[in-house]
Amino acid sequence: MCSPLLPVSNKIRSLLPSDFNSILKVINDAAQAYKGVIPGDRWKEPYMSAEELKGEIEAGVRFFGWVEGGRLLGVAGIQALKDTTLIRHAYVLPGCQRRGIGTRLLEYLIDLAETPEILIGTWADASWAIRFYEKHDFKLVSSTEKDRLLRTYWNIPERQIETSVVLRITSSF
Ligand SMILES: CC(C)(COP(=O)(O)OP(=O)(O)OC[C@H]1O[C@@H](n2cnc3c(N)ncnc32)[C@H](O)[C@@H]1OP(=O)(O)O)[C@@H](O)C(=O)NCCC(=O)NCCS
Repeated sequence: MCSPLLPVSNKIRSLLPSDFNSILKVINDAAQAYKGVIPGDRWKEPYMSAEELKGEIEAGVRFFGWVEGGRLLGVAGIQALKDTTLIRHAYVLPGCQRRGIGTRLLEYLIDLAETPEILIGTWADASWAIRFYEKHDFKLVSSTEKDRLLRTYWNIPERQIETSVVLRITSSF
């Protein structure tokens, strides 16, 4: 059960190596939303392995989390690349979704970004996630542009490129 939202300032923090297992749990619990929705050949359990998460952190994804009462309820990562910023792996525990935690984490990461452009990739079939990002002014890019961006900035298999979309926001500092 989740209590009413508390102020952002003391709820969001940078996650530490000691949070590793909690991050994995939030991701894998929340990713159950994809089961039966994304193409069957893209689903696996656990959705993200410890090895994959370790690889993402080593590749430069910095995770931030929403913590209440010592419990991690939501996570989102940011990856600064040379000329763009990726927001990666945004997940909120199933019982805590739709209370604004994802929004607060997203806004926090947008503020941290040091490039005008921010990109987010998600499954084409995850309509709720696309709506969530569109509500925050991210716009879907064309299919050709999506292929180019995913090949340039992500390290994912061709089949994932086929079944994903990319959303972009460009801010003026
Ligand atoms: C997408 C996600 C990170 C958003 O976090 P959140 O804390 O639930 O989001 P917020 O409460 O800030 O915003 C809620 C909005 O997101 C969208 N949304 C989130 N979950 C939804 C759901 N299950 N069904 C429909 N819309 C949903 C809606 O637009 C919703 O607005 P509404 O409640 O006014 O209709 C979270 O729902 C989640 O972890 N989902 C499962 C995993 C996932 O899709 N991750 C995205 C990876 S790219």
